Amino acid sequence: MRELGVSSEVRSSDTAASELAGRRGLIISGGPSSVYEAGSPQIDPGILSQPETAVLGICYGQQLMAHLLGGSVRHGDRGEYGLAHLQIAQADTILKGIGSGEQVWMSHRDLVDAVPPGFEILGSTETCPIASMADPVRRLYAVQFHPEVVHTTRGREILSNFLFDVCGCVKDWSPTNQIEKLEEEIRTVAAGRRVFFFASGGVDSTVAYTLCLQALGAANVQGIYVDTGLMRQGETDFVRQVFADLGAKTFLVEDAGDQFLEALRGATDPEKKRHIIGEQFVAVQERILRSGEFLDGQWILGQGTIYPDTIESGGTAKAEVIKTHHNRVAGIQKLIDTNRIIEPLSGFYKDEVREVGRKLGLPDALLERHPFPGPGLAIRCLCTDSEAFPQRLDEGWLVPVRSVGVQGDARSYRPILAVEAVPQSETFATDTINRLAGINRVIALLGSHTQIQEMRVPAAMLDAPRLERLRIADEIVRRLSIESGFEQKIWQFPVVLIPFGTTDRPDSIVLRPVDSVDGMTASSVKIDPALAKRLCRELLAVQGVCAVFHDLTHKPPGTIEWE
Ligand code: XMP
Repeated sequence: MRELGVSSEVRSSDTAASELAGRRGLIISGGPSSVYEAGSPQIDPGILSQPETAVLGICYGQQLMAHLLGGSVRHGDRGEYGLAHLQIAQADTILKGIGSGEQVWMSHRDLVDAVPPGFEILGSTETCPIASMADPVRRLYAVQFHPEVVHTTRGREILSNFLFDVCGCVKDWSPTNQIEKLEEEIRTVAAGRRVFFFASGGVDSTVAYTLCLQALGAANVQGIYVDTGLMRQGETDFVRQVFADLGAKTFLVEDAGDQFLEALRGATDPEKKRHIIGEQFVAVQERILRSGEFLDGQWILGQGTIYPDTIESGGTAKAEVIKTHHNRVAGIQKLIDTNRIIEPLSGFYKDEVREVGRKLGLPDALLERHPFPGPGLAIRCLCTDSEAFPQRLDEGWLVPVRSVGVQGDARSYRPILAVEAVPQSETFATDTINRLAGINRVIALLGSHTQIQEMRVPAAMLDAPRLERLRIADEIVRRLSIESGFEQKIWQFPVVLIPFGTTDRPDSIVLRPVDSVDGMTASSVKIDPALAKRLCRELLAVQGVCAVFHDLTHKPPGTIEWE
């Protein structure tokens, strides 16, 4: 809706109709439930009878609408997932301008098999007789397919028809025309107090910081950057320069590298490493909060929280865990409890934050950065307690380095399969992982000093020399990836150091370029042979590096990061 220029908000499905009164339009979203399941999401039926508010149900939203208004929903056991072609029965209202035969994307188990009284069928597909329905008198509309995904070719037009023709909205919203209002709000919330930020150098916190800087002036905004020693090469200098260019007067770098490394000494278990890093972040933030005068009432805390974080924090149990780690330190909780916190971007999505940042004059080098995980290089530097050897299988080599994957609901750590050359088949990794129980990743050798059968997995710790090795390799990959134009084509490019090699060269590098939209799913991206060759040449010249591999695994079954 916002991309189409109309202001919109996400609300929980149990919001009371009275709270939604006066809206021009409501959309009831899709979801995996069946209306017949106990505990499936419900709505206040009152929202379907507010004359000033048109309603669009999508997927589960259509089924719920049919169910509540006297239509019928058939329980499907297999469902329909993928592409279908829409046959139009009624081309006016939301399907205006859409011809028969357009591609739509379906993902559902149950089906509406009788429309409620007053409704008519707008469209169907071969397997779904009621793919769209409406009661124009009551201004209720619904589609079984998903107009919001790109695979529904004309989906945007269907949403536009609903917004502009049915709801009578006007295109008057853009993230950048909110800037003045945001700055006004910042001044109101700050009310004469100063704002401090824990800046990460990431897009969200930098844009939030810049808004505050513009709203309150540089003298009233303090940025603090915690250098964990787990960052990429040049990161601290990059962040320092970005803040200097913004006109920051008070920007502090807290050097906590030794503290993090000391706490991580001897830890090889991936989840333990993550836990330690989380704890150290908390400890450093608490120390800074207590050491400064930040709790004295003259300061409020700024955070780069964005809309998905805001939505999630009211949602799943997992979101709670993430919150505790990131911004619910006791000292910060105290600020929250006493309304001393400001989150200017809490109503914006990532792409909108980028637009705001661009308008504020932030450089593309910052705004278009690939995502980088909070725990930094620590989760890309794999460790092992004791020596082990690869084992020959028909498919390749089973390497006893454990990396994380997502199969089913749970994260699992399993060994990897290494093959000696990049296979022709693009489905090789997925097919092999499905067939061989016990692995969740497939990597292909791109270049090495030694054959795989001569390599072994040594005991390896998270220590300064290995981190430095990874930092050098990561810098090489980033430089060549940017120079070749590869960087712009992919979503993220983790570089992973695994303990696999020889006595002189105990580690190997795994290249993990992926394409993704939101990081929830991802596909492994091919590396052009010329680029692969250049990467290998430079990486194999790094002290201690024995081989270079390419991770062929999609997500699922393998996560983007290795830990
Ligand atoms: P996975 O590995 O779960 O990663 O497929 C999905 C996306 O999330 C990033 N990621 C993290 N980001 N803290 C972060 O700030 C973390 O602990 C973390 N773990 C994974 C990952 O880089 C990818 O973009």
